[in-house]
Amino acid sequence: MSIIALLPAAGSGSRMGAAMPKQYLPLCGKTVMEHTVAALHAVPEIDLVAVVVSPDDTRWGELDWGGFDRLKVLRCGGDSRAASVCNGLEALRAEGFDAQSWVLVHDAARPCVSPDLVSGMIAALKDDPVGGILAVPVADTLKAADASQRIAATRPRDGLWQAQTPQMFRLQPLHDALVSGMGPDITDEASAIEKTGQSPKLIHGSPWNLKVTYPQDLHLASLILASASH
Ligand code: CTP
Ligand code: MG
Repeated sequence: MSIIALLPAAGSGSRMGAAMPKQYLPLCGKTVMEHTVAALHAVPEIDLVAVVVSPDDTRWGELDWGGFDRLKVLRCGGDSRAASVCNGLEALRAEGFDAQSWVLVHDAARPCVSPDLVSGMIAALKDDPVGGILAVPVADTLKAADASQRIAATRPRDGLWQAQTPQMFRLQPLHDALVSGMGPDITDEASAIEKTGQSPKLIHGSPWNLKVTYPQDLHLASLILASASH
């Protein structure tokens, strides 16, 4: 049974506000995307790294992917992250991958994920009936705001986790859950699976596995990549 990493990389990076999508911005001598692909490609259990880019992407082909023998680009990105993932899953099925293959969906914008963390996740979930996600317990006190930005309530953080990626589910069940649940509230794969009545497992992720969203995240990511401990 195959284990596939699927990297949605068709976003525009509007919150970054850069001249190009953030996955192509420079980071420690490479692009963000090259770090992310290298991290997933270094996971020995992963048979294929499939990257979903926008159909009009011109930058993927300008990079040197010669060192990666288990890498494929799918030019089928959609209008939302969920649509890009859904289209990528359909492309994998059309190429003959088994419906029960494990798929690890990982944001192209999370370049600091460690291969060891992903290997541990695969070991923890490969016999799981549902699948699961990397996540970290919430550390800060949570405040609910009213309309004038005053505190309306303090929410207990016990039992609350912040979702990360990879998110690991079986190919066809994930595709079907995304199709049936498609809407603005589906912000990750787990939320689509939850809508089907199943409970994905939470696997301890890492604070180093940050998503590059705003300009200052690039600075943080460069510090993490420069440290040996991530
Ligand atoms: N993504 C995608 N297709 C989209 C939107 C997002 O493949 N239509 C990808 C992004 O490229 C990124 C990941 O999903 O790797 C996480 O999304 P996000 O951090 O929101 O990236 P962007 O949508 O590009 O950024 P923004 O929301 O600031 O515009
Ligand atoms: Mg987005």
